[in-house]
Amino acid sequence: MHGAKRYYAEIMMPFRGFIVKNLDKLTGLQIDMIGPSHGPVYKEPAFILDAYREWAGGPPHNKVVIPFISMHGSTLKMVDRLTAALADRGVTVERFDLTTADLGDIAMSLVDAATIVIGTPAVLTGPHPKTIEIAYLAGALRPKTKFVSIIGSFGWGQRIIDVLGGLIAPLKAELLTPVLAKGDPRAADMQAIDALADTIAAKHHEAGLL
Ligand SMILES: Cc1cc2nc3c(=O)[nH]c(=O)nc-3n(C[C@H](O)[C@H](O)[C@H](O)COP(=O)(O)O)c2cc1C
Repeated sequence: MHGAKRYYAEIMMPFRGFIVKNLDKLTGLQIDMIGPSHGPVYKEPAFILDAYREWAGGPPHNKVVIPFISMHGSTLKMVDRLTAALADRGVTVERFDLTTADLGDIAMSLVDAATIVIGTPAVLTGPHPKTIEIAYLAGALRPKTKFVSIIGSFGWGQRIIDVLGGLIAPLKAELLTPVLAKGDPRAADMQAIDALADTIAAKHHEAGLL
């Protein structure tokens, strides 16, 4: 199951629409075995067909994926606050520290997440390059994400929202108000993080996911 989900996440996810349509064509057929043009033979087809129905066609889960990086700990404090605030509101969180995270694991986490929140400090007047990679990946894989946001910290000037926003635009997800702190996050920044958690929980609730 793990290998099949990783393959779907990394290779097949952008073709979700075709997968759903083609699964419909199988309705009513008695399938004993699937021999794909590559990959393993499935002797119990229901296993993989049910999994693809859920991954490609099922609703997203009440889950937020937070890929983040932090050079000096300010963004990390905001990510910690958001993680706790979402947990308090009954929302599942999967977070990935991009200094060590595996891209395939992140892709798998994106398969059924309703929301993505990217955490980044400002570097070279934009988002940290590691988060550019993730935003590009999310835009290319086009998971069924409904909501996105961005949190992080800067020193003097940045184009974080412009750059990341452009890369994740193919998701066609709703952008929830980002929270960018100047330096170490203060009480007002943490309140804005709590407000973001409130908004995410409310959006998940409205979408029938919570
Ligand atoms: C190598 C480096 C480059 C930076 N470039 C920028 C920048 O272009 N614009 C800016 O506003 N801040 C810049 N900063 C400041 C950081 O964004 C700021 O210190 C931020 O609070 C760091 O967040 P963190 O603690 O999560 O790493 C830079 C910091 C470093 C270390």
